[in-house]
Amino acid sequence: ARTVRLALIPGDGIGPEVVAEAEKVLDAATATSDVHFEKTTFSLGAGRFLDTGDTLTDDDLVAIAAHDAILLGAVGGVPGDPRLKDANIERGLLLKLRFSLDHYVNLRPSKLYPGAAGPLANPGEIDFVVVREGTEGPYVGNGGAIRKGTPHEIANETSVNTAFGVERVVRYAFALAERRRKKLTLVHKTNVLVHAGAIWQRIVNEVAAEHPEVAVDYLHVDAATIFLVTNPSRFDVIVTDNLFGDILTDLAGAVTGGIGLAASGNINPDGAFPSMFEPVHGSAPDIAGQQKADPTAAILSVALLLDHLGLQDEAGRVTRAVEDDIASRGDQVRPTSQIGDAIVERLQA
Ligand code: NAD
Ligand code: IPM
Ligand code: MN
Repeated sequence: ARTVRLALIPGDGIGPEVVAEAEKVLDAATATSDVHFEKTTFSLGAGRFLDTGDTLTDDDLVAIAAHDAILLGAVGGVPGDPRLKDANIERGLLLKLRFSLDHYVNLRPSKLYPGAAGPLANPGEIDFVVVREGTEGPYVGNGGAIRKGTPHEIANETSVNTAFGVERVVRYAFALAERRRKKLTLVHKTNVLVHAGAIWQRIVNEVAAEHPEVAVDYLHVDAATIFLVTNPSRFDVIVTDNLFGDILTDLAGAVTGGIGLAASGNINPDGAFPSMFEPVHGSAPDIAGQQKADPTAAILSVALLLDHLGLQDEAGRVTRAVEDDIASRGDQVRPTSQIGDAIVERLQA
């Protein structure tokens, strides 16, 4: 039997609640497979910081990197918690993992499943994937502030866009478009961010020449938010930078039935490092500990993980079980664990 070493990072807030359900589903989906998941749980996040002062040590990073894949719930404390004033769990943990493990593709599929309670009256078919760059852009921490706290303060946060970094994610997006409906939309803000915009547009044009079958278009990010609401069917593959991709995918989650359904993969396509799968949402302190979180995003992240590991049958079974669960929801509100149990039951049927 094949062994897969899986690192689990439940994290903070609703993270442990949704990861518990995702783990149940993973176990059920692979119960009869010739694959054994050897799981290691890492206690990381705001909770760990408050206990020990550590965010992600070098030892943690080495230990996590020795796994085949990572499943993460959510990290981050209650915004404004004074005890976390000097911690930056998001940068020091989540982004450190994405950057260190070279997760240059942040893959965020959006699909409106039949029965999902989306906010649009006539949504049409929604089935697109945002390929969000994961290691560059305004996220790199290339900035600083001077004369802090004075009326003369200057705070800079400079976006980094390398030809190497943009080209590799654009190539991934085109390859994905080839396997889908062959449509790719670059989203940026080339009218204002002229330097970053130019490198993205140039590289998209260059790679497009190698993919004559793929129809390419461009939208400014502000206009893209309009079309995500008024005509989401127009999208197949969206390729965009780290920050625009972050914002667009919360909106995409909202239009496809809620952030509780939105899954993602932080992919290192070269396979040099383990890829990391996680819901798009955060630790939701407002509903944590109350069994109110929808674990579906975490469960669909398991489907992405299985697919990434080459376990397509298992991935497909998880997705179908989720689809059936969503189709039968109506407006019933169930505790987190009951949603997980219902999906497990469908897998076992
Ligand atoms: P959030 O995604 O945690 O919550 C936004 C809203 O969505 C809240 O009302 C929340 O209750 C709701 N929500 C989120 N997940 C849900 C689910 N599964 N089911 C039902 N409702 C759900 O975003 P936020 O409030 O901006 O951030 C909270 C904390 O999480 C912050 O510390 C933030 O930095 C962190 N964060 C972490 C990640 C991550 O670990 N990947 C992602 C986003 C935010
Ligand atoms: C996400 C989150 C993270 C991001 C934060 C918590 C660093 O919002 O995964 O979408 O901005 O990428
Ligand atoms: Mn986000």
